[in-house]
Amino acid sequence: MSAEVEKKKVVLAYSGGLDTSCILVWLLENGYDVVTFLADVGQSEDFEAARAKAAILGASKMVIQDVKTEFVEEFIWPSIRANGLYEDRYPMGTALARPCIARAMIKVAKEEGAKYVAHGATGKGNDQIRFELSAYALHSTIEVISPWRLPEFYTRFKGRNDLFEYAKEKGIPLPVTQKDPWSIDANLMHISYESGILEDPQTHAPKKLYVMTTHPEDAPDVPTVLEIEFQKGLPVKVVNKDDGTTKTKALDLFIYCNEIGGKHGVGRIDIVENRFIGMKSRGIYETPGGTILLSAHMDLEVFTLDRELRKIKRKLDAEFAEQVYRGFWFSPEAEYTRRCIALSQDHVDGTVTVKVYKGGVYILGRASPHSLYNAELVSMNVQGDYEPTDAGGFIKINALRIREYQRLRASETSGK
Ligand code: ARG
Repeated sequence: MSAEVEKKKVVLAYSGGLDTSCILVWLLENGYDVVTFLADVGQSEDFEAARAKAAILGASKMVIQDVKTEFVEEFIWPSIRANGLYEDRYPMGTALARPCIARAMIKVAKEEGAKYVAHGATGKGNDQIRFELSAYALHSTIEVISPWRLPEFYTRFKGRNDLFEYAKEKGIPLPVTQKDPWSIDANLMHISYESGILEDPQTHAPKKLYVMTTHPEDAPDVPTVLEIEFQKGLPVKVVNKDDGTTKTKALDLFIYCNEIGGKHGVGRIDIVENRFIGMKSRGIYETPGGTILLSAHMDLEVFTLDRELRKIKRKLDAEFAEQVYRGFWFSPEAEYTRRCIALSQDHVDGTVTVKVYKGGVYILGRASPHSLYNAELVSMNVQGDYEPTDAGGFIKINALRIREYQRLRASETSGK
C-alpha cells in the first residue's frame, strides 16, 4: 500500500445487529480501516455468526473476547460488597458491564495501534458516557467516534427505516426476526428493556418480555433453599440445601444463582430512573442472581458490622452506586470508595441461608465467626452483662433535647 495513504484504524464495538452493522459500513465508506470488537459478557449471542457478518461487511479483523470471569470478579463482586443499587433499586447490570467491556476494547485498540474507537450508543443515554469516560481514562490519546452524535450520521439515519434502506442498498444482511418493540441490553448479570412501547411509563410490560426469569405466579410451588457463604463480603460458596449442589468458582456460583433466581422469578423491577445526562427514563430489569446475593450480603453486614461503621459504609455504598451508574469506574474517587468499602468487609464472613420462592428472597438464618451478635446480651430470659437501670438514665439524657424542644414550641403556640 505504498502509494496509498495508510488508513485510519478504528476499533468498533460491534454486536452484529442492524445498528452496528450500518455503522461498520458507514465507517468503511468514510475511509476507515475497521476492527470489530465483541465482548462476551454472558449475553446469549451467536458469536460466530457475528464474526462471519463482520467479515462479509468488510471488517479487517474481528476480535471476540470472553470477559465473563473478570466481569464477575472485578465488577459484580465489588458491587455486591457495596450493596450496589442505583436510586435504591437498580442493581446496575448494564452500568457494571460497560467499564469491563471498555477496558477490554481499549486493550485491543492499543494492540492494534488504532487511534480511534467507535460505538453505537445513542446520544441520549448513560452508555455513551460510561464507554467514553472509561476509554479516555485508560487511553489518554484515544479519539472516540460516536456516530449517533454526528450530524452527518443522525440527519442521514433518522430512524430504523433509514437504517433498513441503507442496509438494503449496501447489502447488509437484514435481521431475520422481527425486532422486539423495545431495546434490550443483556449480559450475565441482567437484561434491561427500555424505549419503544415502554416509553409510556403507564404501559405494563407484556408477559413475553421477560427472558431470564419465570413469572413469579408461574414459579414452582416448592421453594429452593440456598446457603450462601461469604468471605470478606464476597460470595465464596453456594450450597443448594435440597439437592446438595455446590458452587465455589465465582463465575459458576453467579451463574447458579441466576439459574435458581430465574426459576423462581426473582429480581424483576420496573422503574423510572434519573439518567446522568439529566432526563428520566423508564426501564424494566431482571437481575435474578444479583438480587439473591445482594439480599444475603445486606443481611450478613448488619450481623457483622458495628452500627456506626455500617452507617458510614452505607454512605459510601450510595457514592459507589452513583459513581458506577455515571460511568466513573476508573476515577480516583471510585478507586478510593472501593478501597474503603473493601476495608469495611474484613469481618463480613459467614453464611446466610435463604429461601427463594415465587419472586422473593426470604432470609431464614445466618451464622458468622465474627458476628457482633451476643445472644446472652440481647436475651429476654437472661440478664447478661447488662444493668437494666442504666437504660433509664440513657433514655432521660436522650430525652433532654427533645423535651426542651417540645416545651419551647408549646410555650410559643400558647402565647399566640
Ligand atoms: N438504564 C439502564 C442504565 O443506564 C440500562 C441501559 C440499557 N442500555 C441499553 N443500551 N439498552 O444502566
